[in-house]
Amino acid sequence: MKNKSLISINDYSKEEYLKILDIAEEFEKQPTQNILNDYVIASLFFEPSTRTRLSFESAVNRLGGHIVGFTDASSSSVKKGESLKDTIKTVSNYSDLIVMRHPVEGSARFASEVASVPVINAGDGANQHPTQCLLDLYSIRKTQGTLDNLNVAFVGDLKYGRTVHSLVIALSDCNCTFHLVSPVELKLPSSVKRFIKDKNLKYYQYTDINEVIPKVDILYMTRIQRERFADPLEYERVKNSYVLKNDMLENSKDNLKILHPLPRVNEISEDVDTNPKAYYFQQALNGVYVREALIASILGLK
Ligand code: CP
Repeated sequence: MKNKSLISINDYSKEEYLKILDIAEEFEKQPTQNILNDYVIASLFFEPSTRTRLSFESAVNRLGGHIVGFTDASSSSVKKGESLKDTIKTVSNYSDLIVMRHPVEGSARFASEVASVPVINAGDGANQHPTQCLLDLYSIRKTQGTLDNLNVAFVGDLKYGRTVHSLVIALSDCNCTFHLVSPVELKLPSSVKRFIKDKNLKYYQYTDINEVIPKVDILYMTRIQRERFADPLEYERVKNSYVLKNDMLENSKDNLKILHPLPRVNEISEDVDTNPKAYYFQQALNGVYVREALIASILGLK
């Protein structure tokens, strides 16, 4: 993976992403390792973030590296009209690796084509979120002991949910069965469903979350994302489609784990948080180990 950008999860083969998960296990055992002393990582966030930005920063700090960048593009020369191309070419001169979140789909791919250093996509609009995917895979393997032959439910915004798109694509290499729960307006796009179909895997579509809870090993909840809707009325119609409550989990499998990329709004009631099947905060912690592994791999240090 040395010098290889990560823009879409399918840029990496299954063998490559499993290697990242194995290295992440090493970092979980020993998170602080002084291997990035001579490296500068640029962190360019054109969209808000808590987990992705701070876990990348935490990962760099734990590895002894240095971070430059911005958390709000209005504090950069983008505000003066500088193009993304010029911004990326400039930041390439100041850093060894660029981590970028941007609201426009395809912007990360474009950045990787004009950058002279590797680029990690930290989320591009409604398209992909491959580093979230790696930590989701890590969390699934850690809790289920395998990534293969699982029943996985995705619930909520499957249309605009970039974390869903990346994880469906990765799990299509793992012979999983997919249970897709969404309002009709927010179904999984056919461009992503194609990965399931190409592997002849089973998938089922639902509008009622209660139908899937007893069947699955992983319940991947997502937020209905106000910021992705062009029509506010459409958002109002679907925003409260799913609210997971503790009593709904009574007939769930013993090994069920509930994942959510976070942030949540109201789609998981707080009474679920103390259920041992709730895993979303540990999932966010796993993001540090996975991002340490990814950075170290791309820089050729692991
Ligand atoms: N999961 C995720 O991308 O969270 P943030 O938007 O807080 O980074």
